Amino acid sequence: MIPQDFIDQLLNRVDIVDVVERYVPLKKSGQNYMACCPFHKEKSPSFSVSPSKQFYHCFGCGVHGNAIRFVMEHAGMSFVDAVNDLATSVGMSVPQVAASPQQQQAVRQRPGLLECMGEAARFYKQSLKRSPEAIAYLKQRGLTGEIAARFALGYAPDGWTPLQQAFDDYLDDTLVECGLVIRQDDGRRYDRFRQRIMFPIRTPRGDIIGFGGRVLGQGEPKYLNSPETPLFEKGRELYGLYEARQAIRDAGRVLVVEGYMDVVALAQFGIDYAVAALGTATTPTHVQKLLRQADHVFYCFDGDKAGQRAAWRALENSLEALVDGKALHFLFLPSEHDPDSYVRQFGATAFERALVEDSLPLSAYLVNELTQRVDMQSQEGRAELIKLATPLLAKVSAPALGLMLRRRLAELAGIELNELDRLMGRAPRFGKKTGRAGGMRGPRTDPSLVRRLIRWLALNPALASQVQLPVSPEDCGEELQLLLGLAALIQADTTPPSPAQLEERLRHTTLGERLQPVLVKALQSGEQGELNDPLPQEVADAVARLADNIRHAQLEQLTEKERHEGLSGEEKRRLLELLKASAGPSRT
Ligand code: UTP
Ligand code: MN
Repeated sequence: MIPQDFIDQLLNRVDIVDVVERYVPLKKSGQNYMACCPFHKEKSPSFSVSPSKQFYHCFGCGVHGNAIRFVMEHAGMSFVDAVNDLATSVGMSVPQVAASPQQQQAVRQRPGLLECMGEAARFYKQSLKRSPEAIAYLKQRGLTGEIAARFALGYAPDGWTPLQQAFDDYLDDTLVECGLVIRQDDGRRYDRFRQRIMFPIRTPRGDIIGFGGRVLGQGEPKYLNSPETPLFEKGRELYGLYEARQAIRDAGRVLVVEGYMDVVALAQFGIDYAVAALGTATTPTHVQKLLRQADHVFYCFDGDKAGQRAAWRALENSLEALVDGKALHFLFLPSEHDPDSYVRQFGATAFERALVEDSLPLSAYLVNELTQRVDMQSQEGRAELIKLATPLLAKVSAPALGLMLRRRLAELAGIELNELDRLMGRAPRFGKKTGRAGGMRGPRTDPSLVRRLIRWLALNPALASQVQLPVSPEDCGEELQLLLGLAALIQADTTPPSPAQLEERLRHTTLGERLQPVLVKALQSGEQGELNDPLPQEVADAVARLADNIRHAQLEQLTEKERHEGLSGEEKRRLLELLKASAGPSRT
């Protein structure tokens, strides 16, 4: 746990302009800095960095955030790594509070472990140069020296304890801790990796945290991987991401394959935006990471049965990470091929053509697969289809994608979308109060007005005190609810946080998660000029208009209800109030 105070100080200390400039050249434009957005493809700059707000945002794609988020998204770092990285850059050291003893130990040991891994990688690399046998194997696999160097491939020599040559103290427990040396019950120690080609696994920063080791030729197991260590968690890391980062950004897409060899071979053929999961299924964490790096994620697994199972697992694990505006595709190779053999036989152009022309979008793959499992000619089969789809669609939280998938399925099953939604146990959208006759809904308000206020608050939190609205959060629609939630959160601090600090208050909260897509829209729809700070009068006007909107909608609802069902005492009182207010001077 990193204390909030520290994060606040850190955000005060770093300058987002310096941070962004480490990765993206910026041009001064008025009070802000501009660049072509590094998160989507564009020709004219719509990415703006504000030194006064310590905040960046893009008018084109709506990405936004503070220095921490920039480092996380641009360099693909975790939150903690990003904080550490920024702290180091301004000479602060990150305090640790209330960490468990285990966590404390991990933190203390981290540098030691990383150094060991680095040292081992250097040794393996040297050993490769000295082993004609290993070199011959790589040559026979078609790899050039250049590509071996790019991926820092190495060789773990024969013998029980080759690492003795690399470390002064082979008995140092750190070597066991980082998975390089195995200690037997009787205390004897030996190297985990022997007589294997070594593939170093790096973090997006380049630190080596694990290895995959392949036998030369035949042998079991074909690949031996580092065990889980304080540094290395298989379900989170992707092989090749460090090497591929720039290419992924340039291509606007990332390719996910199964094997180390696939990544390396593809790179040699110039397809250098590929990564691999580490002998595990693609996890939701992987997918999240990938979607942060590119708008298009292509899965290309081996053409055999195992590859098809892996593809389906990848689909299942992707659903919850789906985001509107980003797309996942699946390429199925002929059954005798993996990406390595395919690119060698047919070349890079054919591979990329297949990627674009023959891959299936996630939705098509999902639908194809499910309809193949049932008899679409019979009623029972179509009912079964809905049953199979329900748990899958329940995972999709991206609104537009979810809707399109449900539409398609309803169409295939021969029913209406709302019937499908009912079958799947989804409440209709504004559903909370539809139980009552007459369909009481939250007040309908001008969405652009609400969004504009959300945008103003996010970029000028001090305005929150002005947002007083005649409605309680339970009684209003999604975006209005978010506006009220945001205002309340800001006011929970004695002095309003800066925009950069506000983002940290929102991180990992439900409010933050729900707000995120709305803010993206709000920033996208904003005209350049509109992102200037609003005048106090503009804010007052917008709030007054919104309040008016709300009162008007409530008035309509209550009169409607009075006509059909009658009102409770409380409701009558409210109606009277509203009538008085609407008779007042400020109606537009
Ligand atoms: P593959 O068997 O498809 O290997 O396993 P590959 O990458 O194509 O390698 P070559 O071409 O035979 O040399 C795919 C991935 O599954 C994991 C590794 O990450 C491998 O790259 N794996 C496979 C293991 O972890 N252990 C194994 O024994 C086999
Ligand atoms: Mn292979």
